[in-house]
Amino acid sequence: MENLAYESVIKEIKRRLSIVNLIENYLSLRRSGKSYVGLCPFHDDKNPSLHVNEEKGVFHCFACGAGGDIFGFIMRYNNLTFSESVKELARRADVKLEKSSISVKNRSKRDILFKTNSLVCSFYHEFLRRSKRSKEVIDYLAGRGISLEIIKEFQLGYAPDEWDTLVQFLTAKNIPLSVAERLGLVIKRNNKDGYYDRFRKRIMFPIKDIDGKVVGFGGRTLDGDEPKYMNSPESEIYHKKSVLFGLDKSRDFIRKFDKALVVEGYMDFLSLYFTGIKNAVATLGTSLTRDHAMLLKRYTDKVVVVFDGDEAGIKASLRVLQVFLEEGVSPLMVVLPKGDDPSSFISAGRQDEFQRLVEGAAPLLDIFIEKNIRDFQEGKITRSRAVQEVADVLKKIKDSIEKSHYIKKTGESFGVRENELLSLMKYSEKLEKERFKTKKAADTQERLILKIVLKFPEYLNYLREENLIDFISENDIKTVLKELILNGFDDVPSLLIRFSSGSVQEIISETVFFSDDVPDEATAWKMLRDCIRTLKLRRLEDSLRLLRLKIDQALAMKNFILEKELIKEYRDLVEQEKSIKGGSS
Ligand code: UTP
Ligand code: MN
Repeated sequence: MENLAYESVIKEIKRRLSIVNLIENYLSLRRSGKSYVGLCPFHDDKNPSLHVNEEKGVFHCFACGAGGDIFGFIMRYNNLTFSESVKELARRADVKLEKSSISVKNRSKRDILFKTNSLVCSFYHEFLRRSKRSKEVIDYLAGRGISLEIIKEFQLGYAPDEWDTLVQFLTAKNIPLSVAERLGLVIKRNNKDGYYDRFRKRIMFPIKDIDGKVVGFGGRTLDGDEPKYMNSPESEIYHKKSVLFGLDKSRDFIRKFDKALVVEGYMDFLSLYFTGIKNAVATLGTSLTRDHAMLLKRYTDKVVVVFDGDEAGIKASLRVLQVFLEEGVSPLMVVLPKGDDPSSFISAGRQDEFQRLVEGAAPLLDIFIEKNIRDFQEGKITRSRAVQEVADVLKKIKDSIEKSHYIKKTGESFGVRENELLSLMKYSEKLEKERFKTKKAADTQERLILKIVLKFPEYLNYLREENLIDFISENDIKTVLKELILNGFDDVPSLLIRFSSGSVQEIISETVFFSDDVPDEATAWKMLRDCIRTLKLRRLEDSLRLLRLKIDQALAMKNFILEKELIKEYRDLVEQEKSIKGGSS
C-alpha cells in the first residue's frame, strides 16, 4: 500500500474493520433492532447497556456513558493512546503505516498550530541558553533543583523583556500572526494594528501532550510579577482538562513501576524528575478531572497524590478522591508538612525523607474518613453531617469488597449501624440522580444543536455568523461546536480524531447514535432556530433574575441613582425578551 496521509490511513482502517466484529472479540453482542447490544466492559454492567451501531461505526454505553469508534474502544479496553490504537488496528486491518504517514507532511490546519508551537518552543529555549539573562535564569533553576540537563530535556525557555520579540520572529518565519493569536502566543493590540507578545520576562515551560507535541506554555515570573504563572489560554489544541504535564516523559516509568505520583506544579515535577523520581505527573494547579484520571489509568491503577501541605492542597485532594473512585481507582496520599511542596523537599536535599513519605502513603479514603471523625470530635461538624459526607464518598467505591470494608470501618468509627449507612448512601445516590436529570434537561437543547449541525453542516455558518457559541454553556459541547465552526465537518471518524478528551469523544458518539431523531432539513432548520431561541431566552431570564437581586440591593442601600440605572437595564432586557418571544422563530 502506498503512503497515505494519516487521516486516510484512519479512514482505510475504518473501512476494513467492522466495529461489531472488533467488539465481539471482547464480549458477546446480540442484535437488537438497528444496533447490537452487550454487557459494557467499562463498568459493572448487569443488563446489556453497550450499544454498537455498525453503520455509523460507533459504540455507546447508555449506563456509564463510555463511547467512541473502533479506536476509542480499544484505547479504553487496552489502555492505549490514540496513536498506539492506530498502530494496533492498522496491524489487524493489514494497512501499512509508513513513518511518513504520521509525520508532519500532512498540512492540515491543526498541524500548522503544532508546528508553530514547536518553533516557538525552540525559540524560547534558544533564548534561555543564549540571552543576556541566561546565567541568571540557569542559576535560578539550579537553585531550585533543576539542572541544565533537565532544561534541555524539557526544552525550558525564557521569554525576554520586550513587547515584540516573538512577533518579529514569527514575521521573519512567515508564520501568520493570526495563527499565533489562536494559540494565545500573541495578543491583538487594543487601539492600533498589530500584535504584542503574551509572554514577557518569564521562564517558559512547554506543555506537551502524550505524544510529546507542544500544546501550550506556562510562564513563571522571575521578578515577582503577578500572576506568578501565566498560562496559554485554551485553544483548538490545548484543553487544560485533558493534559497532564510530564506524562509524555513519565509514562514508561509509570508503567514500569506500576505507580504514579500526582503533584501540583511544574517545579515539583521537574525537581522530582531530576532526582530520579520519574514516575510523576503534574496537574498544573487545576483540579483533577475525569479525563486526567482516565489518562493515568491507562498506565497504572496505583496513584499517590502528593499535594502541597496547605489548606488548598487538602481541599483539592477531596475532589481527587471522588474523581479517582469514579474511575475505579483508590488513590493513596502523602500529607506534607504545612508550607512544603515536593519541590521544596528536593531543593533542600531532603529527597530520602520524601521517598520515605511516599512509601508510607496512606489510602486517601482513610485520611478522608479520619478527617471527618476529627472534625466531628472537635465539634466542627455534627455527627450526621460527618456521616453523610463520608457516605457521599463511599457510594462511589466500585470494588464491592473494598466498599464493604469501608462501610464497616465507618460504621464502627461513628457508632452508626451499617443499615443506616447504606440507606444514607442510597439517599445520596438519589439526590445525585435528580441533579443529573435537571442538568440533562438543560443539556438537551445544546445536544440537539450539535446533532443538527452534524447532520446538516451547512448550518454551522448560521452559528458562526450570529455568534451563537456564547449561548452554549456545556463545556464539551462548546468545544466540539467551536472546533466545527473553525475547521468544518467532513465525517465522524475525522472529527473524533481531533479530540483526545474522553468526555468529548463520548458526547460525539452519543450524538451520532441519536442522530436519527433529526428529521428532514426543513424541520431541522426550524428545530435549530427553536433551540437557539430557548437558549437565548434562558440566558435573558438568568440576567433578569440577577438584575432583580441587584435592584433589591440598591434599594436596601438607598442608592437610587444605581437603582434607576439598573431599572433601565432591566427594561431593555424585557424589551429584548419580548422581541425574541414575538419574533418569528
Ligand atoms: P504553586 O503556587 O504551588 O506553584 O502552584 P509552584 O509550582 O510551587 O511554583 P513555585 O515553586 O513557586 O515556582 C502550583 C501550580 O499551579 C499553577 C502552576 O501550574 C503551578 O505549577 N499556577 C500557580 C498557575 O497556573 N498560576 C499561578 O498564578 C499559580
Ligand atoms: Mn507548590
